[in-house]
Amino acid sequence: MSQIQPHGGTLVNRVAAGEERERLLKEAESLTTIVINSWTISDLDLIGVGAFSPLKGFMNEQDYRSVVDRMRLADGTVWSIPITLSVDDAQASALRAGQRAALVGEDNVVYAVIDIQDIYKVDQKHEAVQVFKTDDLEHPGVKKLFARPSTYVGGDIVVLNRPKPEKFEEYYFDPSETRRIFAEKGWQTVVGFQTRNPVHRAHEYIQKTAMEIVDALFLNPLVGETKSDDVPANVRMKSYLALLENYYPQDRVFLGVFPAAMRYAGPREAVFHAIVRKNYGCTHFIVGRDHAGVGDYYGTYEAQELLKTIPAADLGITPLYFEHSFYCTKCGNMATTKTCPHDKSDHLTLSGTKVRALLRDGICPPPEFSRPEVAQILIEGMAQTTV
Ligand code: ADX
Repeated sequence: MSQIQPHGGTLVNRVAAGEERERLLKEAESLTTIVINSWTISDLDLIGVGAFSPLKGFMNEQDYRSVVDRMRLADGTVWSIPITLSVDDAQASALRAGQRAALVGEDNVVYAVIDIQDIYKVDQKHEAVQVFKTDDLEHPGVKKLFARPSTYVGGDIVVLNRPKPEKFEEYYFDPSETRRIFAEKGWQTVVGFQTRNPVHRAHEYIQKTAMEIVDALFLNPLVGETKSDDVPANVRMKSYLALLENYYPQDRVFLGVFPAAMRYAGPREAVFHAIVRKNYGCTHFIVGRDHAGVGDYYGTYEAQELLKTIPAADLGITPLYFEHSFYCTKCGNMATTKTCPHDKSDHLTLSGTKVRALLRDGICPPPEFSRPEVAQILIEGMAQTTV
């Protein structure tokens, strides 16, 4: 059975093992070090295991500029989000192109080595406008970007140590593993679902609608860094498990986390999310309303519009587009304007702020909005995080 090709044709593996790892760890002891934070460690690890195929390292200047300006790598492969390593001036002055350096965490663990190709200065304002469509510092992704130094180091990496998940380790799968598992289960078509939220009825509706036309669902919540008012990943994980146990067919769903940081780059991030899920072995990818958006920075369907501009052969994975979903009191079920003829006033709509306020007060939102099992876990999670 043939599986969907990884992006760029080959699943990258840059994780050293055995003697090679021992040799590189020894060598790293005498290398110049670059200190990296948890965000960079997560990027590094995802490059290492091939989730970001065809990237083999942090982008060099040519790829970076091409991605920022044309949404493609220098060789023409579609890629929408710069994956970069930034260094401060003091660090930059100690580095040279052609040199190998050690990438070391704040915990002193040597996570990888990098073969430096180039060290380059960037215009972060330009990057922000191209990638996030705004340079407003209120935007969480832009804020993160401007908080980093504007000198980047490009080059291929080799991972020597992998970050240890604090919890839910059994739901961490590398792309080579998800690909093997999907094949073993005999799934020819798998739809990927990205989320940074609890799965509410609208999410469930679009997932199950997609499940009607594919073999299985890969529920792939992002569990890397998110903004502080998003529901913490540990609470979300509990809610996904309760939901799957009670409402999903066990043999047609697979839960595995996506340990990446959230960029909140809306349309550009939707392209990135789709490509990465292809690397995990998905054939289809769900894109609903305001995918990866934040505030009012992006139009409701802007992510879908951007994806539609990319030739199918260049993207490889098939996006499944969904309109804004809601519960209609007259229809008595979940719907979108594509399937429901009733007035807006018949639709149950609750803002994120309103839902959070209810949960904080220990009140379950209506079952038409959220499954009670999910709401209960969120209420307990809120109580723990707000003390
Ligand atoms: S995201 O930042 O990860 O995109 P979220 O977890 O809310 O945020 O969304 C996950 C997926 O569900 C995205 O594809 C998003 O577009 C879609 N989605 C969320 N809410 C709705 C809704 N009410 N109707 C249709 N699609 C939705």
